[in-house]
Amino acid sequence: MRDATVRDHLELLKAASARSDVPPFMVMDVMAAAERIEAAGGHVIHMEVGQPAAPAPKTAIAAARRALDAARIDYTSALGVLSLRERIARHYREAYACDVDVGRIVVTTGSSGAFILGFLAMFAPGDRVAVTVPGYPPYRHILTALGCEPVLIETSGDTRHALTGEALLAAHRKAPLKGVLVGSPANPTGTMMSRDTLTGLIAAAEGAGIRFISDEIYHGLDYAFPAVTAAELSPYALVINSFSKYFCMTGWRVGWMVVPEALVRPIERLQQNLAISVPTLSQLAAEAAFDGRQEMEAVKRGYVENRRILIEGLPRAGLTKFLPADGAFYLYADVSDFTADSYAFAKTMLEEAHVAATPGIDFDPIHGRNFIRFSYARSADDMREAVARIACWLG
Ligand SMILES: Cc1ncc(COP(=O)(O)O)c(C=O)c1O
Repeated sequence: MRDATVRDHLELLKAASARSDVPPFMVMDVMAAAERIEAAGGHVIHMEVGQPAAPAPKTAIAAARRALDAARIDYTSALGVLSLRERIARHYREAYACDVDVGRIVVTTGSSGAFILGFLAMFAPGDRVAVTVPGYPPYRHILTALGCEPVLIETSGDTRHALTGEALLAAHRKAPLKGVLVGSPANPTGTMMSRDTLTGLIAAAEGAGIRFISDEIYHGLDYAFPAVTAAELSPYALVINSFSKYFCMTGWRVGWMVVPEALVRPIERLQQNLAISVPTLSQLAAEAAFDGRQEMEAVKRGYVENRRILIEGLPRAGLTKFLPADGAFYLYADVSDFTADSYAFAKTMLEEAHVAATPGIDFDPIHGRNFIRFSYARSADDMREAVARIACWLG
């Protein structure tokens, strides 16, 4: 009898918590399949991965080398290295003509670390938080893991896939929302919100007591019109950004937030307890990254060319329907003329044309079966080759 109880207890020890049961990223399956093809000698054009092919700015790498030689790498203060926070405040003045108090800037472990801190500081378990679909999956998965309820609001082509104040308030009337999170430029759609749309959405949200979170990780990579920061529009908005995309520093794991005044101290306490501080070497490199903007602008010009190649080439190859590629480095193509299962479509395209793209179901459980996402963060030659291969494959 006693043994049975011990066995039962040991069985319980094996189980993971229900909150950790978040879905995997389908793109990982695509990457694994691409690796198998490459291991067998095939040449895959990688358009599935949402990360720049270019390295970090030379200024950042040099600063990291200097720091390694100069001193011990100690903890920093939980809010981040002061000179980096000051440099970020200067960035808001230079890029947006927007004054942000350095006291409101918090350095984070990528924007991923910022979501955790921001959600913990803003929401209680059970709170309903709106996110858009299609959208970046970890938004909803992190919320779920923290015990909040992600509320999916569909967007459509009529609004360039931007969430409108009316749609937000309609969802709020059904059951009250505590927060809303949007990204512009967005992943996976590559679409952007105009200044008017963003202003209207923030006013609608805050007027109804809904906290506003703006994921600005793709700022700097805007082609259709300049991206607007929510920091300029509301002192209550939580703004999240990162060195991962524009500055090509994904693996350095450093980002930042502009935090509403009242949340600075709670977030500082959370960071002290959860992480102590963000990796010091990465913070020092990130500060120097701002001096590498010229190099990053050249990388951006490469994306502009890649975008042109795809916008002109994909329709000729047979993919005629895609969303406006306003920013980031994504193009979201509607493949419903060919399939009702974009996962199978992406799998076959990879196997037969050796072009890897991400099926939309990662981003949109509702309509994702009709879409695939192309990332154009690699070379122009890769883009031309991808278009040629898809044309041949579909033709
Ligand atoms: C929209 C969006 N937000 C946040 C992230 C997370 O980036 P990081 O944690 O590297 O800053 C990504 C990464 O792909 C993203 O696409």
